[in-house]
Amino acid sequence: MFNKDGLTRREISELRSQRWYAPKTIRAFAHRQRTQQMGFAREEFLGKPVIGIIINTWSDMSACHSHLRERAEAVKRGVWAAGGFPVELPALSMGEVMVKPTTMLYRNFLAMETEELLRQHPIDGVVLLGGCDKSTPALLMGALSMDIPVIFCPAGPMTTGKWHGQVTGAGTHTKKFWDQLRLGAITQHDWIELEGAMTRSIGTCNTMGTASTMTSIADAMGFTLPGASSIPAADCRHPQMAAQCGQTIVDMVWYDHKPSRWLTKQNFLNGIAAYMALGGSTNAAIHLIAMANRASIALNLDDMEALARRIPVLANLFPSGKGLMDDFFFAGGLMAQLKKISQFLHLDAKGVTNTSVSAWIENAHCYDDDTIRDLDNPVIPLTQGCALTVLRGNLCPNGAVMKSSAASPQLRHHVGPALVFDSHQQLSDCIDDPALDVTKDSVIILRNAGPVGGPGMPEWGNLPIPKKLLQQGVTDMVRISDARMSGTHYGTCILHVAPEAAVGGPLALVQTGDRIELDIAAGTLNMLVDEAELARRRAALKPTHQTFSRSWSALYQQHVTQADQGCDFDFLQSGSDVPEPPIF
Ligand code: FES
Repeated sequence: MFNKDGLTRREISELRSQRWYAPKTIRAFAHRQRTQQMGFAREEFLGKPVIGIIINTWSDMSACHSHLRERAEAVKRGVWAAGGFPVELPALSMGEVMVKPTTMLYRNFLAMETEELLRQHPIDGVVLLGGCDKSTPALLMGALSMDIPVIFCPAGPMTTGKWHGQVTGAGTHTKKFWDQLRLGAITQHDWIELEGAMTRSIGTCNTMGTASTMTSIADAMGFTLPGASSIPAADCRHPQMAAQCGQTIVDMVWYDHKPSRWLTKQNFLNGIAAYMALGGSTNAAIHLIAMANRASIALNLDDMEALARRIPVLANLFPSGKGLMDDFFFAGGLMAQLKKISQFLHLDAKGVTNTSVSAWIENAHCYDDDTIRDLDNPVIPLTQGCALTVLRGNLCPNGAVMKSSAASPQLRHHVGPALVFDSHQQLSDCIDDPALDVTKDSVIILRNAGPVGGPGMPEWGNLPIPKKLLQQGVTDMVRISDARMSGTHYGTCILHVAPEAAVGGPLALVQTGDRIELDIAAGTLNMLVDEAELARRRAALKPTHQTFSRSWSALYQQHVTQADQGCDFDFLQSGSDVPEPPIF
């Protein structure tokens, strides 16, 4: 599995764990003593690589990770078999659905925790177990800053759901059925039945939402065993893969195969290429920049847009298409997908196994050309949209993003009056009011929902269609916010407006009734208000978002960067300059 060509094996004395365990000091005595206290004999851990398994992104509040305790045992099996010493380290659990106001508020928390857990303990290499949305970038960001050998073991997607003969995808169909319930098209009984039927197994969401987008990107970048991200959580090949992660990391430690030795901008560009072909979540645009910053690799929205304009959506998966992750796996999975876009990939790029992309895809095969389409038969032609469109204009000078492949054709160029909400609460209170002054041409705007304003940039960007318009058969409208949107959702939703309203971005200046122009083909988003009027409003601007003076939220508001910069903390970006801890 691991290619040792061109690498030099280290001596045991070169492993960082030996600083804790090897010396003839009272401190090292205590380290060995306390390890033996747990029932391990000296020969079980002395002279071996110590592999940390960040396992407890498992918790009873994280349904997508409910199987990770068992998977940790499989990883350990692999570590033991390869001659390492595995240890588990609990870390923050971030179940996407349960954590409020949003897991994004805590992505940097888990990234910090990962980095510091690795730094403070005698860990030589790490297997990261995660997959639910923000856990993937968070774990990788922390490991990148620490820069020790790391392999990502994705949680795997859940099994296909079906209800009354219809395929149901987590997240995507929840929203669809909710709108049907609001209209009376399904009953309360149906709704309750769906509650118990849609998410029917262990694993992450079975659509191409943020979870599968990020694990697939991690896979395409080389952070996983090739193709691991496509293996369903409940498949017997999943624990087999976990055990192989355990075996591989031991070799990675001996040969010091850490990210700074193999990760380049080419790996990021390969991840972006996969993201576009998969029609992945807009959340990835933020996470990729944050991850690149941690590795001191320059990456921005322009890099993503350049590939988005060339690679159409090829994976026929919800929410862009009609299949689920089971279909994708049986069609050949990510490696088959990569093979179909090989002309856009850096084939010499390597990953955790020290093998190249060309080797990964050499024997890949597509078994279902409808699920994994060819470049000349895309799910959505580039003329009708792509996975990521970057917009600029006087409403978003530092950029805004949208999944234009999920936008309605009639709204690709649109001019309409703004209907502005200052908070999610205000929007929720008003949106279904029969007296709301709104038409299908209105542009619904939500502000104070960005990194600082949220805080944490919640996934509110799929703003609801007013009930009275739903009743008229309106299913999509232009919607703008400085929030994010769940990767499982769709619609003409413009997201990540930067700078956000809470830091004085132009979104704060818009007033209800202003005319807004969206032109997807031109990549522009403007408010048609003259500059003198905007200057007058700017001078009178007063913050309307909630601010925190204590707690994690206060630290977050003080240090988070804007969406176009990755929403990392300003003091955590770029390479690690933190020394190894002294051992006294
Ligand atoms: Fe965990 Fe969707 S809620 S992956």
